[in-house]
Amino acid sequence: MTKISLRPTTTINEEVKWNKKKIIISKTDLHGTILYMNDTFEEVSEYNKIELIGEPHNIIRHPDMPKVAFKTLWDALKKGKNFHAIVKNLTRTGRYYWVITDFTIDKNDKGEITGYTGRRKAVPDSVVKKIEPLYKTLLDIETIKGEKASELYFDAYLKEEGKTYDEFVVDLFEQESLKEKNNIQSKTEEQPNKIKKSLNWFFFGDFL
Ligand SMILES: Cc1cc2nc3c(=O)[nH]c(=O)nc-3n(C[C@H](O)[C@H](O)[C@H](O)COP(=O)(O)O)c2cc1C
Repeated sequence: MTKISLRPTTTINEEVKWNKKKIIISKTDLHGTILYMNDTFEEVSEYNKIELIGEPHNIIRHPDMPKVAFKTLWDALKKGKNFHAIVKNLTRTGRYYWVITDFTIDKNDKGEITGYTGRRKAVPDSVVKKIEPLYKTLLDIETIKGEKASELYFDAYLKEEGKTYDEFVVDLFEQESLKEKNNIQSKTEEQPNKIKKSLNWFFFGDFL
């Protein structure tokens, strides 16, 4: 039986409409095969659970995402390290949505790694404005000079920033979310609150 591809054949340069206060969750096995997704994942991706369970997670990979970002992700996960990444994802109709993803390691009772969980939330537009040109450069390097050249550029870029990719992503998200929050608060004449770095930070540090 021939398998029908679920991926759209063309992309549309339009953000999918979604409730940006919600958290998009999926769980995979060790190879990135989708085992679980929450209702918000269904709503935003425009796929239903039946279609996506058992499929590889790259089904929602957007062609604007450079390969090196995922290589960095998998290198960390395979070492058993939790990780954050800013990702542009592709919906069923070819639209897109940007998220910051908190990747965590799932273990069994013996402490063995059994899979991974990704919890995603929306990012402020200012984060997209900063990360988009970097991803475009990496993608162009990949296309013209190859993946190794893109990896070397990415390493050198992060060295110049003095951060790992994970730190770079978390700092960028925090700074821009804080700016956005302070903007909203100064408009309502409230005192600014500092966003905390923790799971609490990830889920309740709402910038909206
Ligand atoms: C828990 C988990 C969640 C993931 N979520 C996404 C995602 O939202 N979007 C995405 O493009 N890749 C995601 N990935 C990475 C994919 O498995 C894959 O590496 C990526 O899409 C690049 O595709 P490729 O490895 O075929 O180049 C996730 C992986 C894991 C383990």
